[in-house]
Formats: sequence, C-alpha cells, structure tokens
Amino acid sequence: MTKKTLDLWATQDVHEGDRLRLFSAVAQAVKATTVLYPGCYVDVAPSFVFESVTYVDVDKRAAGFFGDADGVAEIVAAHGGLRDPDVSFVHADYTDDLGFPAEAFDLLVSLYAGFVSEHCTQYLRIGATLLVNPSHGDAALASIDPRYELAGVVITADGDYRVVTSELCEYLVPKKPQSVTADRLHASGRGIDYTRSPFAYLFTRVA
Ligand SMILES: C[S@@+](CC[C@H](N)C(=O)[O-])C[C@H]1O[C@@H](n2cnc3c(N)ncnc32)[C@H](O)[C@@H]1O
Repeated sequence: MTKKTLDLWATQDVHEGDRLRLFSAVAQAVKATTVLYPGCYVDVAPSFVFESVTYVDVDKRAAGFFGDADGVAEIVAAHGGLRDPDVSFVHADYTDDLGFPAEAFDLLVSLYAGFVSEHCTQYLRIGATLLVNPSHGDAALASIDPRYELAGVVITADGDYRVVTSELCEYLVPKKPQSVTADRLHASGRGIDYTRSPFAYLFTRVA
C-alpha cells in the first residue's frame, strides 16, 4: 500500500471503525450484493461488508486512492472484507451518464455528496434500497420522490448504529410547517429541520 493511500484512509477513518459500524448495521437490515456509491471520496467501508461495490467520484485524490488496488484490497481485508474484493471506481461526475445499465444495483449510497438520488436512482433496481443522510437535502428530496417509500431509519447512539423500521410515520415531519419542494431543496442545498434526526434513512425504490 502506498503512503498516500494509508494517509487518505486515516483521514477518512478518523473516528476509527465508524463507517464499518454504519455499513454493518445497514448490511444486517438490507440484502444487497451490488452497491453504487456516488460521491464516495475514499470511503471504501461498504466493501468491508458488501460483495461488489462501484464507487464514483470526481475528486483526483479519490481516483488516486482507488487506483492503488492492492492498497485498497489490504484495507478491505483488514476490516473483515473479501481478500480479493470486487471494487470498481469510476472517475466521473455522477450527474453525467455513468453508462451503467438501468436497475443494475441493489443499494444506492448517498452520504454528504449532494443530490445523488436525483441522478442515480435510474441505476437502482425497483424493490432495492437507497441509504441517504439528510445533510445536503438528498433525504428530503427522496422523501418527496414518488419512486421512493421510507423503509427504515438508521439511528446512532454512542458511536453505534442500528436500523429501526417501526413507527416510521414519526420521521420526516418538519419542525415548522412548510411545503417541501425540489426547487426549494435545490436552492438551499440543505436538508429540512425535522422533529426527529436519525443519522440516515433507508428508502425502498417502488417505481
Ligand atoms: C463531503 S465528501 C463525502 C464523501 C463520502 N461520501 C463520505 O461520506 O465520507 C463529498 C464527495 O462527493 C464528491 N462529489 C460531489 N459532487 C459530485 C458529483 N457531481 N460527481 C461525483 N462526485 C461528486 C466530492 O468530490 C467529494 O469527494
């Protein structure tokens, strides 16, 4: 592994094991083999628990990181993943046509990377899952997207994560009455202030 790869992973894994705990909780709740992660930067943690992961980012550092295939495989194996992981990286803007077949993936990941669901839902199988956090407004956008239904929330406490699938009607309730529209979310680039604040949401693609 190159020093650069090690250093980049150290900056990503600054709260050691945090993403491993997140994706482990998601993997327990969601049956998925093929995962698409647009705006991944160097977060290779999905490969610790999922068999086949395609990563997408425009950042040169991410391209350099995933270009060190042996280093990435070492990191994956050291965290309990496969010794010869199925990891692909596409150095691209996810708002462009990524060239994947429609509905090719079982899980779409959207964490702190903008409106991933808007551009990449086409690649997610109907019946499969979007994991999305609220920070950039993508969770709110998914909540008003007729292709999605809320299926669970990811709760964090004391650095651990668990998926909750009950009483979902208590989530996605804005603190202040307001109409949530795609135009407003695009204009603000921020999420909605909800009465409950889970770390992330799981939506099922229904259409
Ligand atoms: C704040 S980082 C989050 C990285 C990772 N998802 C995480 O949670 O640690 C946002 C990443 O999204 C990438 N990104 C933002 N917009 C993008 C786009 N349109 N296409 C590809 N990558 C994008 C950036 O290059 C950056 O690496």
